Amino acid sequence: MSKKVRTAVFPVAGLGTRFLPATKAMPKEMLTVVDRPLIQYAVDEAREAGIEHFIFITGRNKGVIEDHFDRQFELEATLEQRGKTQALAELQADLPVAGQASFTRQQEPLGLGHAVWCARDIVGNEPFALLLPDMLIKAKPGALKQMMQAYEAKGGNIIAVEEVDPNDVSSYGIVGRGDGEDKAFSINGMVEKPKIQDAPSNLIISGRYILQPEIFKLLSSHTKGAGGEIQITDAMQKLLKEQDFTGVKFAGTTYDCGSKIGFLAANVAYALDRDDIKDDFEKELLKIINEKK
Ligand code: G1P
Repeated sequence: MSKKVRTAVFPVAGLGTRFLPATKAMPKEMLTVVDRPLIQYAVDEAREAGIEHFIFITGRNKGVIEDHFDRQFELEATLEQRGKTQALAELQADLPVAGQASFTRQQEPLGLGHAVWCARDIVGNEPFALLLPDMLIKAKPGALKQMMQAYEAKGGNIIAVEEVDPNDVSSYGIVGRGDGEDKAFSINGMVEKPKIQDAPSNLIISGRYILQPEIFKLLSSHTKGAGGEIQITDAMQKLLKEQDFTGVKFAGTTYDCGSKIGFLAANVAYALDRDDIKDDFEKELLKIINEKK
């Protein structure tokens, strides 16, 4: 039986230059979709999939992420005094249990592969999940939970994938598809941000991974790849020579919140799915659209 995946890594050190000035003093992972920060959605998805320990790879100016996952006694006391018991219970439910979160800093922005490598001592010799909070995946069950089912069947390394317009492949990591069904097929190659003519498929790496700890040894060479950065995709491509990688075409919708359009679309989609606001929001939205016509 495959070793249980207990730990998840969240790289949150990125600068968020595409969202300036919003992200000048505030981490991009704290941008909200309706009323929850992006990082909270990723943590919720991991917890739903059975993750017990949450590792955040932070950087300078990211302290507020640590505060977000801490108690806030003044706020809690005020909510209690005002009888807002549900809001209080919800806030407390969002928190990792004491001792279940770790924070470490990536001191220089050397790439995603380097950020993941920074987690090596905390993860130890165990398989782990990796979630990129920019990629918000609306799915039931969550994308990571769907991947866990493939992991229980196949073990090894698992990558969530989806199809994109072939013109967009150069913005993502791309996998080559081998045998097997959509829910668990074998991956026979990976390349980071290829030119359209070099892409093995239009299946992108959607920002959710289950990886074996041997990846850390490969990341430790600090070899630079696409964009002059240390890429997790390059290390995975090397690991593919020794271990199996399974692709999971999950059921759900991805909002690439690293882009303005994806972020705005996520807000609309999540708002229209919220019982407390959807009717009023839809009216406002239609009003705006009709006025524009
Ligand atoms: C990273 C990964 C890429 C993946 C993408 C998903 O790229 O390197 O393989 O497809 O996330 O968002 P980045 O968006 O950090 O450039």
